[in-house]
Amino acid sequence: MKTLCLYYTRTNKTKEVMENIARITGADLAEYTDGKGRGGVFGYIGACFVSVDRTIPKLTIKGDIDLKAYDRVIIGMPVWVEGPCAIGRAFIKKYRDKLPNDVYYVVAQMGGKDYMSKIKAMDSLLGRQSSGQFPVRTKDND
Ligand SMILES: Cc1cc2nc3c(=O)[nH]c(=O)nc-3n(C[C@H](O)[C@H](O)[C@H](O)COP(=O)(O)O)c2cc1C
Repeated sequence: MKTLCLYYTRTNKTKEVMENIARITGADLAEYTDGKGRGGVFGYIGACFVSVDRTIPKLTIKGDIDLKAYDRVIIGMPVWVEGPCAIGRAFIKKYRDKLPNDVYYVVAQMGGKDYMSKIKAMDSLLGRQSSGQFPVRTKDND
């Protein structure tokens, strides 16, 4: 089974988790992005704004990735403002028809509670039920 791990990250926590999952499972790894750096305080404020506005004009997967070549895709994203981050939402919306049946999520959040509400939001964007989910509490970086 050919697996692709995908991630969006602002402060590299989701990236680190997805790198580990890809390494352990022997999956390919790629980053999806809207091309905007959101580091620092201004980046945080920008992330808050886009969580409300949700307009993501440009979204790409870095590298030469053909989604159709994969049997399973694991999508990693951080939680922003108690929901899947705006970039992750836009990713699912844009690529849902190109994703294989087997879709898993990795949700990186600082708090540890109620990740299922985020999964429900992601499934509703996907238009079907995901195959599985994995929440990661990143507060203590473990
Ligand atoms: C704008 C913004 C809003 C956030 N809102 C939440 C939240 O509602 N609940 C939570 O647990 N973490 C929240 N976080 C924290 C991130 O989900 C957490 O730090 C995550 O691990 C960051 O992953 P990254 O380093 O891959 O960007 C928020 C972060 C940002 C930037």
